[in-house]
Amino acid sequence: QTLEMELEAIEKGGYDHFMMKEIMEQPRSVADCLRGRVIADQMHVKLGGIRHKMKDLMNANRIIIAACGTSWHAGLVAEYIIEEFTRIPVEVEYASEFRYRNPIIREDDVLIAISQSGETADTLAAIELAKSKGATILGVCNVVGSSIARSSDEGAYTHAGPEIGVASTKAFTAQLTVLTTMALMIAKEKQTLPEETLHKLLVDLESIPEKIAEALKCEEEIKKISEMYKDAQNFLYLGRGYNFPVALEGALKLKEISYIHAEGYPAAEMKHGPIALIDEEMPVAFIATKDSSYEKIVSNIQEVKARKGKVIAIVTKGDTLIPSMVDHAIEVPDVHEALMPMVSVIPLQLLSYYIAVLRGCDVDQPRNLAKSVTVE
Ligand code: G6P
Repeated sequence: QTLEMELEAIEKGGYDHFMMKEIMEQPRSVADCLRGRVIADQMHVKLGGIRHKMKDLMNANRIIIAACGTSWHAGLVAEYIIEEFTRIPVEVEYASEFRYRNPIIREDDVLIAISQSGETADTLAAIELAKSKGATILGVCNVVGSSIARSSDEGAYTHAGPEIGVASTKAFTAQLTVLTTMALMIAKEKQTLPEETLHKLLVDLESIPEKIAEALKCEEEIKKISEMYKDAQNFLYLGRGYNFPVALEGALKLKEISYIHAEGYPAAEMKHGPIALIDEEMPVAFIATKDSSYEKIVSNIQEVKARKGKVIAIVTKGDTLIPSMVDHAIEVPDVHEALMPMVSVIPLQLLSYYIAVLRGCDVDQPRNLAKSVTVE
């Protein structure tokens, strides 16, 4: 028993929980994920695991992404990225819905299954269904040799290393890294981006590990904010564009490990419902970095402040406008808007972690949840 406990302490690398270790590991896990795949100065962008199916991917009539949980959120970000950079239509499906609804699947469709564990039953079943209709299957998995990796035609591993905490953190940023790399690889082959833009994106992608390291410096601030909001009953997370799935992921992290009811919404949809919930008791986390929806999100923040909601905003370093409007502003470094989710999610991972710890929750093994769901 004691030996086991000591071993576990060693595995946690000096942190109290696996989740914290895994959050802190992200500069390294993303760097591991990029290694050999992206070299901006040589305009090199390649996933070695996707070779024979590269033509199918480039010429896909449609890309279908199937996943569950956090992996599904990574898929939502990828939808925006792939469509923007490659102009291939993308649909993102909950694997559990897709498999039971007689979806239209053609031979020139490519199904990308995203799964940390590579063992999620619904995602595996989505693969089998798409396969039976003749689609090409690509897997984006973390666990090497997992069932999903084995049943895919080809794929790319996320190389994030073992993720033990039930709430997924480093697997998410690594999935986004792979999916962004994939989009840029297609864009390069199909020449759907001007060379200069592609180069700039590759440079930004290479810099993500250091940007995440910088974002992690908000830890002390987040601890203070967590103290103030640990007794909240509800939480709303709002974002637009590339940051909309980050809002969903922020809310998922909080509900999973702290058991606070949290909802993520696209900020513009707020007026169709969630705005009714806003009063002085309601904390609202805005992911409001400087991107093409900046002006729009500023007005969404005003709408919440006008109803006395408490606003925590994730902002781009150097922004002065939003910090002057909100209760708490957390800075993250600037990157291209398509790459921002890998950085803007960091403070939200920390926020859920500290709130859960302060509430005395079992962070690594939240009640009722399993790390991989191998039953339907
Ligand atoms: C479970 C886990 C989540 C995970 C989801 C999908 O619900 O608790 O953290 O996002 O399954 O898992 P996968 O291994 O397929 O990414």
